[in-house]
Amino acid sequence: MVNYEDGDDILLNERTEILYRGTQARNNAVNPETPAIYPATAYIIKDTEDYDFANGGGKYFYNRTANPNRDGLGEAISFLENGEETLICSSGMGAISTALLSLLKCGEHAVFSKDIYGETIELIDLLRSHGIEVTLADFTDLEAVEVALKENTKLVYTEIIANPLTQVVDIRKISELAHKRGSLVLVDSTFTTPFVIKPLKLGADVIIHSLTKFFGGHSDVTGGSITASKEIIKLIKPSYLLLGATLDANSAWLLQRSVKTMGMRMKAQLDNAVILAKALSENPNIRAVYHPSLESHPQHALAEDVFLYGYGTMISFRVEDDRKKVDEFIHRLNVVKYLGTLGGIRTTLAHPASAFRNEFTPEELRKMGLYEGLIRISTGAEDVRDLIEDFSQALKVFG
Ligand SMILES: Cc1ncc(COP(=O)(O)O)c(C=O)c1O
Repeated sequence: MVNYEDGDDILLNERTEILYRGTQARNNAVNPETPAIYPATAYIIKDTEDYDFANGGGKYFYNRTANPNRDGLGEAISFLENGEETLICSSGMGAISTALLSLLKCGEHAVFSKDIYGETIELIDLLRSHGIEVTLADFTDLEAVEVALKENTKLVYTEIIANPLTQVVDIRKISELAHKRGSLVLVDSTFTTPFVIKPLKLGADVIIHSLTKFFGGHSDVTGGSITASKEIIKLIKPSYLLLGATLDANSAWLLQRSVKTMGMRMKAQLDNAVILAKALSENPNIRAVYHPSLESHPQHALAEDVFLYGYGTMISFRVEDDRKKVDEFIHRLNVVKYLGTLGGIRTTLAHPASAFRNEFTPEELRKMGLYEGLIRISTGAEDVRDLIEDFSQALKVFG
């Protein structure tokens, strides 16, 4: 038998031998250009003393507890976010639910922005069923947030760029208000990414990402992350391990690969978004364009002040409220595709009213600004001239 570690090889019967043959670590495979993938669910323990060492965190031991690919990816995200530690989760929702269920207890209160990802809003029902009190507020209105804060407010939760109308939240001021009450500030920065804003530097305490979007960048991997100080991660980690929302090694490895090109992708996508938003705002078939780069945007000045680069890649625009014409417009597009995700290298669009059609009445959708004629774009890295041309020819449906 090829021994796992030191010791003499003993040749066993074939069925036993094949369980071990060729599986030992290749000790001369050092410093590969890309990290290795570690799919093992567990690591061999020499004896009970070694078990104690492993169980105390001395070495890798069991995959759900710790994995080299997750740790490598976590280190990269901590670096980008200026955070101390990052937990890598199985999805964005895995990260959001893990953070909230570990930080909030029965009887405590939390304030959430009303303009956040739809499934995070649905998660609030679960929190309420566990005896957690939640108030929703308009986070572009600082007074409304101040009124919503209570003595027992444990945390405040928001995104920076709201979906789909791209309102920008002043995370610096929100953090000041929350900290005065001793509340933690959690930010889902999926739409912004660390290339646009670093919320920890502006006062936030916990940063969450759906890595499925810009970090992955190619629409081929699902993941999530939670970044914070070591002290806060210490509060979240026990539940993270118990809830089991940890990412598999292969996906973590794909994300380790993707994060290397993220800066280049983001620059191209952010630059394209500014040019595309301007071109769309000049198109006669469009009624309104929502992108923080535009001077008409209500938080344009705030975005200029707090964003490090660009204004996000998400653009929304409104055309005639005619569902048939909207479908025809989608059919006519050659480059841009309709997808139930965002943040990829290719430009995609979504139709927010359709995403919520089963949950709200047409009247409620209109009140929320989710008109039939509202289109949301996630700008990719194509040659922007092809995007402008593609939208221009398809928008003629509304002429
Ligand atoms: C802002 C935001 N947060 C969280 C999520 C959830 O991420 P995931 O689908 O990776 O669970 C999404 C998904 O679209 C999102 O847009």
